[in-house]
Amino acid sequence: MSQLKYENNILRFENIDIDEIAKTHQTPFYCYSKNMLTNNFNNFNNVFLDLNYKICFSLKSNSNLTLLRILASLGAGADVVSEWEFKKAIEAGIPAEKIVFSGIGKNENEIRYAIANNCFQINVESLAELKKINQIAKDLGKVQNIGIRINPDVQSDTHEKITTGSLENKFGISVNETLDIFNRINEFSSLSITSIAFHIGSNIKDLNPFKHSFEVAKHLIDKIQLNYETLKTIDVGGGISPEDRNFTFEDYYNLLITYFGKDKFNFIFEPGRLIAADAGILVSKVLYNKITEGKKFIIIDAGMNDMMRPALYDAEHEILTSKLNNSDHNIETEIVGPICETSDKFIKTDKFANIEDGDYVVIKNVGAYGSTMSSNYNARPFIEELLIDKEEIQIIRKKQSFGDFIKNEL
Ligand code: LLP
Repeated sequence: MSQLKYENNILRFENIDIDEIAKTHQTPFYCYSKNMLTNNFNNFNNVFLDLNYKICFSLKSNSNLTLLRILASLGAGADVVSEWEFKKAIEAGIPAEKIVFSGIGKNENEIRYAIANNCFQINVESLAELKKINQIAKDLGKVQNIGIRINPDVQSDTHEKITTGSLENKFGISVNETLDIFNRINEFSSLSITSIAFHIGSNIKDLNPFKHSFEVAKHLIDKIQLNYETLKTIDVGGGISPEDRNFTFEDYYNLLITYFGKDKFNFIFEPGRLIAADAGILVSKVLYNKITEGKKFIIIDAGMNDMMRPALYDAEHEILTSKLNNSDHNIETEIVGPICETSDKFIKTDKFANIEDGDYVVIKNVGAYGSTMSSNYNARPFIEELLIDKEEIQIIRKKQSFGDFIKNEL
């Protein structure tokens, strides 16, 4: 259940008025609900309890250390794609035995770091990378667990910029090449190829693309297992949408065991958005109402550098006013940021509540791919991040200072 709701026309997050928080913290800021994050993780986790599995939270969606510590305490592992994500996971208390290192372009240092630090599994996306990892593992005198990330060549009905599972995308190794790799497995003496991995895209609302990828993987695994028995883990990636899905977690679970059974394999899940998205909001202040030629712009103090999903993917994030106001204005309205770019807009609507300069708005569902994708564009600082835990507000990332911003420039 959402922790964001109106009570007596006042918008509250958990049990605190948005206006109250905004009075003591400079906007714009991200604010997360510990309750939501915890519930999201537990609701997903509870479905798989009778399997052997790890839930490796995808740090690219949100890598705030406090949030990671909460997830670590609930038993989460991590899906990381860079050395610093790896380090953040460890720093937050996620053990290396629960870390999967993914990504198509890991460099030598990153691979060395992961192997030296006992990374549970490295997912590989090309033959060239496989050879490189084998060499580095040999140098280090170690045998590294490997997942082959296959490209199951399925279309997932999501935004073209976040689909990954078709052969047109750069990700994964084709089924045929994967079979070739298993045929020459003896060349990789410092690797233990234990897993088939896939991830077909993000924000997927329909079960069918998952079904197709399970089908492809099952078919491939059956072939491989004819003469290669150490394959024991299936990494199904992330991608489940938190909202407007036409399937439940139980449907997903049933599909999984229909193809792979309960006992034969270990599973890895890599959810990101599902766990973090609705646990976070972005609070911003209205700077100006500007009416021109029958059109209204509401200029807020958050910009595309703080949250770039609308500018990059035309993503629509609902925006609420901190006070419920029924006197809607029937005029074409755009809610825009202060950045010098036309694409710096959050939403376009024919109707938005009358709102005064200085009032606050809340952009919903930004706990995933909000803060992690923010930038310093227009020399704007990384903004403050807060966590609400029941009645308590905690600063979990300070706003970047000007000193920090310029300190590495010579
Ligand atoms: N595993 C792998 C290998 C991934 O590439 C991703 C996301 C995930 C797991 C987590 O996916 P999720 O459960 O969050 O859908 N910036 C985009 C999303 C990019 C997703 C990239 N990969 C957005 O804001 O929509």
